[in-house]
Amino acid sequence: MTQTAPRPQDLAATLPAAHDTVLILDFGSQVTQLIARRVREAGVYAVLKPFNTPLADLRALSPKAIILSGGPASVTEENSPRAPMEIFDMGVPVLGICYGLQTMCTQLGGRVAASDKREFGRAFIRTESAKLLAGMGDGAKAEVWMSHGDSVKDLPAGFKTIAASDSCPHAAVADEARGLYGVQFHPEVAHTPQGAQLLRNFVIDIAGCKADWSMAHFRDEIIEQLRAQVGTGRVLCGVSGGVDSTVVAALLHAAIGDQLTCVFVDTGLMRKNEAAEVVELFRDHFNIPLVHENAEDIFLDRLAGISDPEQKRKIIGKTFIDVFEGAKKKAGAADFLAQGTLYPDVIESVSFAGGPSVTIKSHHNVGGLPDDLQFKLVEPLRLLFKDEVRALGRALGVPEKFIGRHPFPGPGLAIRIPGEITREKLDTLRAADAIFIAELHDKKLYTETWQAFAVLLPVKTVGVMGDGRTYDHVLALRAVTSVDGMTADYAPLPHDFLGHVATRIVNEVRGINRVVYDITSKPPGTIEWE
Ligand code: XMP
Repeated sequence: MTQTAPRPQDLAATLPAAHDTVLILDFGSQVTQLIARRVREAGVYAVLKPFNTPLADLRALSPKAIILSGGPASVTEENSPRAPMEIFDMGVPVLGICYGLQTMCTQLGGRVAASDKREFGRAFIRTESAKLLAGMGDGAKAEVWMSHGDSVKDLPAGFKTIAASDSCPHAAVADEARGLYGVQFHPEVAHTPQGAQLLRNFVIDIAGCKADWSMAHFRDEIIEQLRAQVGTGRVLCGVSGGVDSTVVAALLHAAIGDQLTCVFVDTGLMRKNEAAEVVELFRDHFNIPLVHENAEDIFLDRLAGISDPEQKRKIIGKTFIDVFEGAKKKAGAADFLAQGTLYPDVIESVSFAGGPSVTIKSHHNVGGLPDDLQFKLVEPLRLLFKDEVRALGRALGVPEKFIGRHPFPGPGLAIRIPGEITREKLDTLRAADAIFIAELHDKKLYTETWQAFAVLLPVKTVGVMGDGRTYDHVLALRAVTSVDGMTADYAPLPHDFLGHVATRIVNEVRGINRVVYDITSKPPGTIEWE
């Protein structure tokens, strides 16, 4: 029986309740959202606002705790950002992190200056007994992540030091009577192993926030925001079968029902059965109107004879837009275009480093469209990390098969066939890839890898099968472990597993007589071969 997704009217019954709010004032650190994320993980609602938000707007949030983020400026510079003075007297605990600590100390009468030694990376602090640091090594050494050029030299009146490292005498400070705290290190990053504990100590034990907030609340809140944003407008959402676009579509469906139309551009460069699964999920499971544009012929025509990886990517990107434009007409008029932009995409595109970066690969995202399209954008996942998107998808009833899926690149199998792309090669690759993936699922190795796939090489080698000579393609298997795809290691899959997969592929897939395993990490390699 087909399970049905939550309908808009069911969700409307669970409007966001009043939760204790933690206000995060953003001073521009690349990892500010991570603070919000850790607070959410502690079960508490977090709101992020720029440091210069008018005080009345901040008061209107009635925060139960305030966190000042890190940032790229130096408090020693003229006109560097400051927190509104009034927040220190609002009667709620304040925690300053890195720049947040430095501006707090400066504003309250302490002194900050450039350190003799800039400190970036792992450090160890000796902790005193303090509520903020409970569970962080308890007087012993705790590992933390530092990233600063300035440090606090003199504490404001009423403050004491509660942790120090060799090069940072005031690594954590507190004025417990006033509820003011500061840390020079970054508790929000994974490199501070007990950092999540510290943030939990602050929001729950010190500020007294109730841990009653969950992904289901977040879902309802985003749905409310989408309704407010879209009103009676119509929304078009490109879907690919990937987790991000699927969750965006499910959210919009829950928010605005049939004001949503999804468009699925089937490039013919997808994996075995993938297109059929996408159509089934949207039409049958979710009951969302779906325009399925089968564009295999156009894509393969335009790719014929092309071997250069960048040219392939550009052709696919351009063709995708052309086909999407056509599908858009079939979908009818729309006011908004939905996109599955995630927070890491946002930080990568707003670099504080500012330096020119080299294009390694021109990424093409399904649904990534040019500026001249006359749409307003809806990007409901802008503030989330991948694993939060997965949790949200579960809260929306998206089937596990789609939630746990490995990432799949927009240009699809085209960048897994070095050299020219033909329908025959695509079919060969699809068959081999399906065996590899099925075996990974079967042996419970799929979830151990970040991404796993097969690559069909434009190299033929000699083999022997039965009594005959074969002269067929080489297939490479690639499986990597990674946290975010930015760096990766090859997955140490067991030899007997790899041997078994190789045997199956050579026996069952015509056109392949040799299988190799790619053991390159990223860097220096990339995950995909092109
Ligand atoms: P690389 O090969 O650059 O890949 O190490 C890192 C991650 O990005 C995926 N990838 C893409 N995703 N459009 C996408 O949507 C693209 O053009 C693209 N190229 C690579 C890749 O699969 C891996 O997860």
